[in-house]
Amino acid sequence: MITIDTTGVPAPTTAPVHAPPKPGHGPHVGADRQRVDAPLKVTGTALYAYEHPVDEPCYVWPILSTIARGRIRDIDIDEAAAVPGVLRVLSHQSTPRLRVKTDPALWILQDGEVHYRGQIVAGVIAETPEAAREAAELVHISYDEQLAELDFDPDSPYAISVRRVAPIVIARRSEVLFTRPGEESKGDVDAGLAAAVHRVEVEYEHPSEYHCQMEPHAVIATWHDTSRIHPGATRLTLYDANQGPIAHRSLLAPLLGLLPNQLEIISPYVGGGFGGKAMPHSHLVLAALAAKTVAPRPVKLAITRQHMFAFVGHRPRSVHRVHLGAEARGRLTAIDHVSIQATSRLKRYIDQSCLATRMMYATPNRHTEHRVVELDVAPGTWMRAPGDFSGMFALESALDELADASGIDPIELRIRNEPDVDPEDGKPWSTRNLVACLRQGSERFGWSHRRPPGQRREREWLIGLGMASACFPNTHAVSLFAQITFQRGRYLVQMQAADLGTGAHTVLPQIAADALGVDVDVVDSDIGRTGTPMAMLAGGSSGTYEWGNAIVAACERFRRKHGEQPNEGATAWAQGRPPRGARKRSRHAFGAHFIEIAVSTVTGEVRVRRMLGIFAAGTIVNPRLARSQMVGGLTMAVSAALHEESFLDPRFGHIVNGDLAGYHIAAHADIPQIEIEFLEEHDPWFGAIGAKGIGEMAMVGAPAAIGNAIFNATGRRLRALPFTLDKVLTV
Ligand code: MOS
Repeated sequence: MITIDTTGVPAPTTAPVHAPPKPGHGPHVGADRQRVDAPLKVTGTALYAYEHPVDEPCYVWPILSTIARGRIRDIDIDEAAAVPGVLRVLSHQSTPRLRVKTDPALWILQDGEVHYRGQIVAGVIAETPEAAREAAELVHISYDEQLAELDFDPDSPYAISVRRVAPIVIARRSEVLFTRPGEESKGDVDAGLAAAVHRVEVEYEHPSEYHCQMEPHAVIATWHDTSRIHPGATRLTLYDANQGPIAHRSLLAPLLGLLPNQLEIISPYVGGGFGGKAMPHSHLVLAALAAKTVAPRPVKLAITRQHMFAFVGHRPRSVHRVHLGAEARGRLTAIDHVSIQATSRLKRYIDQSCLATRMMYATPNRHTEHRVVELDVAPGTWMRAPGDFSGMFALESALDELADASGIDPIELRIRNEPDVDPEDGKPWSTRNLVACLRQGSERFGWSHRRPPGQRREREWLIGLGMASACFPNTHAVSLFAQITFQRGRYLVQMQAADLGTGAHTVLPQIAADALGVDVDVVDSDIGRTGTPMAMLAGGSSGTYEWGNAIVAACERFRRKHGEQPNEGATAWAQGRPPRGARKRSRHAFGAHFIEIAVSTVTGEVRVRRMLGIFAAGTIVNPRLARSQMVGGLTMAVSAALHEESFLDPRFGHIVNGDLAGYHIAAHADIPQIEIEFLEEHDPWFGAIGAKGIGEMAMVGAPAAIGNAIFNATGRRLRALPFTLDKVLTV
């Protein structure tokens, strides 16, 4: 456990809850265990989706629409079909029918309609990937093109305010993924702003961003002939890369006319997810349809980096209008935050960007609202810290502007607006140690060395310090289950959890070992596939505490049922339920970012020099892997703040820089020493192990901290991500 000395730090407004340790809790939870799958990964023997050995595979290559809206008039496959090795060309004229339209973006090859540029409209199956790709170039498609709306105008008269409550996690039409009302207000914002001594009225924006996982989406689909076994036997197997099979099964099985049990999904290792592999995308439908036409031969599909910018989701671009008012001593009199996002006309995905604004700071008057502008573009999806990333970039930047306007230190300003209870719903905090993070971080980072803007210079470099708060909500969603089995002297944990490189294979046995009172080296995990007890997918940074909660329940039941000396094959399962009374608490993890940057007065280049992320996130189950998660999140934050930018051609609808040559992500040389600290905290309201979510919080607020540091260095306020050289020089 990484702890830091908290003596001399004033008590946080809400005292941390220290529940008595549970029996059998420790020594493994909190221990610094190395990844159990590391040897497999470094020797290249961990099997990723595309690598599972299958007999006589063939290959499918997707063909993407070259228009943004319209209809296929004609499709000429003769030349493609003549390429040696080609088995079939799939189009809406020749493909098996889908059954239930669970998700409009998965409804491909059915009707010739084109909803966005880069939609899968055809595919070629061949004996080799090379033949499939070559033939795909020879399929000639003509279109009846319609006028497409592609330009994002936040002031569009057609912008739609999202008001309704749709607490649907895996929605039938996966339309609006909202857990709270889209608009809410309290008090009188106009009066609050009018009464303010200090006011900030600003607009922030960021471009659409792409996940860029190291492992692009890949799948092997095999359609089995089970007619001679029994009709309920598994029909389709997908070796896939995903964040858990639950959403895949519930959306893909009805789509393909299967019962849930007829769809087997296997995904033991995943090369990065970040939300992009949480929901199924249309390449899986292409692979499943292709496999159906050549059954029982397996069909393999590994999409390209360029495909990753077309049809597998992204963080939608957005604009944030923030008005803050404060009285002379910095207490907020009003907050108004309107988030306006681009969305797809085919399927509305919306980031819940204003939720953090409702709960971070106390104010008597508040209005928050989400609006969307529908365009003929590909649907967005969850991307690391969805909503909180963009919303907190806006809020935490605006607070820095307010600090500057009022002459109050940014940390002090935040502390003066610390709420006693959740400002949105009045619930008491489960634990909230934001102030402790701010104070500890300030001390540790040397915040007192900060100078007024533009006053620290080293040769051509202007040096600045910036900070921002971080938070991440509890995302309790659906029921989940875990099973414990004793066999050959070892314990096996089974559930539909997933390890995206996050460490679930390593930490779930730690949790089980403590709950069973055994050594961690006799506990194995069987996760990442159907056929194990249902569990929530790896999303919302909820995996470890949610799955851990179910595992503790299963282990306790196992011991009650089978005692300390279980028989071979002894097994028990249990449901993980939120702790009694948890829903009456407002549950969030908190943290703070401190960043030192240098800005070149010659080129405008921004270099991050030092970063400190300090977090209060409940029990840290494995400090080594937790630190790794946070370093990853901060790296992604630097990448988003300084580099990542996509350009959609408003004439044709494609991303012009859709590969890693044009879409820049942070490299090693961009990342300095990153320091991560976790405050000691135990939160009993998230689950049995006292842990909260961590990974996504590392990205929340950090881009604001970088912008705030640029302001401190240069006196220039940048409000549009990414903070590239041209903006630094011209703002
Ligand atoms: Mo996270 S974007 O919920 O995988």
